[in-house]
Amino acid sequence: MKQRPIGMFDSGVGGLSTLRDVRALLPNEHIIYYADTGNCPYGGRSHEEIVALAERVTHVLLERGVKIIVVACNTATLHAVDYLREHFSIRFVGMEPGIKPAIAQTKTGVVGVMATQATVAGERFQRLIARYAGDVQVVPQACPGLVELIEAGELQSATTREAVKRYVEPLLKAGADTIVLGCTHYPFLRPLIADVAGPNIALLDTGAAVARQTQRLLATDDLLNPQSEPGSIEWLTSGDPADFAKLRQCLEIE
Ligand code: DGL
Repeated sequence: MKQRPIGMFDSGVGGLSTLRDVRALLPNEHIIYYADTGNCPYGGRSHEEIVALAERVTHVLLERGVKIIVVACNTATLHAVDYLREHFSIRFVGMEPGIKPAIAQTKTGVVGVMATQATVAGERFQRLIARYAGDVQVVPQACPGLVELIEAGELQSATTREAVKRYVEPLLKAGADTIVLGCTHYPFLRPLIADVAGPNIALLDTGAAVARQTQRLLATDDLLNPQSEPGSIEWLTSGDPADFAKLRQCLEIE
């Protein structure tokens, strides 16, 4: 059982930013990563569609014998993780926008959250804000189109810069000094977002926290892989495997 892989999934390459963190913390674990590129983006879909897609991918990963599943997608977590936990006995590590740490560190009292439309519109996102905000103003910013640009490998294009400006400027105008990257795709735009936002704005994502939580849960269940050699990675996708491989190369992921 300890030798079994960790399963990870996202609507596309976004979860690779999380995989990078998991790999750094748990280099000896085998990983199966599923990119649901054939159904990407999740961010414009309904709650029911997202639940159905997450359930389908879970079956694929379970058939491969994974020992834990990391939902490396904020949109899928916020809409589907409760359902998944109810219907499957395997452990799920979810991924939520880092609103709590952002609230703890803001000096201006304003936090911006960049995320998908489905995330921002979700009931669970509103609950997260209500639970932690207190006196802090949390400004959500849905960012339609960004995921598609990242999936096209456009990390630095003029079109992507324009889109980033359109989404970041309202947050700066509102007085945010901290911006949460509330979608696992966005860390791939970190250099561009940092450039547009300027040096005084902190950008937060939760990849490292999710890696630590994965480690904690595996340790609790006595499922950490004791081998000393580096673990393998198996890539699965509902899209075109050649395009997925090309994009991984462009994103500099193994
Ligand atoms: N990467 C996903 C997230 O963290 C969503 C991308 C999409 O819209 O498909 O929210």
